[in-house]
Amino acid sequence: MLLGLQWGDEGKGKIVDVLAPKYDLIARFQGGPNAGHTLEFDGKKFVLNTIPSGIFEENTMNLIGNGVVIDPIILKRELDNLKAAGHDLLAKGNLVLAKKAHLILPTHQLLDAASEKKMGDGKIGSTLKGIGPTYMDKTGRNGLRIGDLTLPDFKERYARLVEKHLNILSHYGEVEDFSAKEQAFFDALDYLKQFKFVDSEHFVNQYMKEGKTILAEGAQGTLLDIDFGSYPFVTSSNTTSAGACTGLGIAPTKIGEVFGIFKAYCTRVGGGPFPTELENETGEQLRQLGREFGATTGRARRCGWIDIPALKYAIMLNGVTQLIMMKADVLDTFEKIYACTHYNYNGETIDYFPYDINTIKPEPVFEEIDGWNQDLTGIRENNEIPEKLSSYITYLEKHLEVPIKFLSVGPDRVQTLEL
Ligand code: GDP
Ligand code: IMO
Ligand code: MG
Repeated sequence: MLLGLQWGDEGKGKIVDVLAPKYDLIARFQGGPNAGHTLEFDGKKFVLNTIPSGIFEENTMNLIGNGVVIDPIILKRELDNLKAAGHDLLAKGNLVLAKKAHLILPTHQLLDAASEKKMGDGKIGSTLKGIGPTYMDKTGRNGLRIGDLTLPDFKERYARLVEKHLNILSHYGEVEDFSAKEQAFFDALDYLKQFKFVDSEHFVNQYMKEGKTILAEGAQGTLLDIDFGSYPFVTSSNTTSAGACTGLGIAPTKIGEVFGIFKAYCTRVGGGPFPTELENETGEQLRQLGREFGATTGRARRCGWIDIPALKYAIMLNGVTQLIMMKADVLDTFEKIYACTHYNYNGETIDYFPYDINTIKPEPVFEEIDGWNQDLTGIRENNEIPEKLSSYITYLEKHLEVPIKFLSVGPDRVQTLEL
């Protein structure tokens, strides 16, 4: 499986696309259209929200797993855009949907917005895609699932859930008209019914039985995990490796390699703690050079230096076996770069991610590292890697105790080196 080790947007989409030829199946296991996974090749750029990043590989099947929450309107829009670009997934038959995946209703989005508005300055900074309220209905045992679409009483079930939502919404104030969205929702569902719905647990286990290979594609990042992220500034799913087991129906004993992906620096969108954040010119420089603006919402991403304690935490939680370092090229022009190795926290020096990080701000302790001051974006061979970048890689491997196996030096598929 492949997962983000930071706060999302590490470049998961790009790398899944690069690795896809090696796999028979790519499977998304959690999250929903709060994700924005960017792929670039042959001068074209695609942003995928719900659809797995393996769709451009001819012989690879793609599954939206049971752990994912699906907004039919957004999914249809993604499919329409792909079709317009010459990739008709319905015709190709390379996408299947889990029957047990939950549906995001238009009223889930209204609930998301109402809840965030109510929180004022303390808001999560949600993408407002209805993710939290949909997972709440899932665990509250009220949710609607893709498989329910074929039930004769689907509309009544829908109406019952909407009634519950409207009751809650009335406590927040006036409810805006959502009839147009509702129409679009049902139109999109009619369209999606043409796709194959599967029991993802049987689907993936059959693949494994036949000796086929599967890559589970994570969304968001470890530090946004509902249990282990900087709660409550997190998303509502398990973004960690355990999430792939429940989100697809794969037993823990069947998990093989765990690719952990991280940027050569660090970013975060939305609220919550970010110890190495740079609220200065350097942060702005990282934002501009790395084009750190959200793929889904267009929001400016907060930027900072790499945080080794946070990465170590993520590696431990996920059981990472191989690391992938992204966006090294963004640091090309920096004379010096910095890595946080410890925090000063409560008068102590610590090298782990503390529980009460939201209330007591850890002060990062940085080590200065020489920059390579060279354009990396044209590099295609390992022997072209500048010595100072090799030293930075070795330095990180020493701290993280896991080998860095891939290096990304630009957004395009071809700007990827296997080390
Ligand atoms: P994801 O959510 O993890 O798939 O990542 P996003 O697509 O949201 O954000 C990553 C951004 O960085 C996208 O705009 C990618 O095109 C871009 N990107 C990926 N890898 C690299 C890289 O090595 N260098 C540069 N400069 N950009 C990259
Ligand atoms: P990908 O897959 C970065 C953040 C939001 C917010 C918090 C909760 O592209 O890496 P939610 O919409 O889930 O209620 O938002 O999580 N967030 C992401 N940040 N990348 C993502 O996905 C994100 N998905 C959610 O900004 O702070
Ligand atoms: Mg993203």
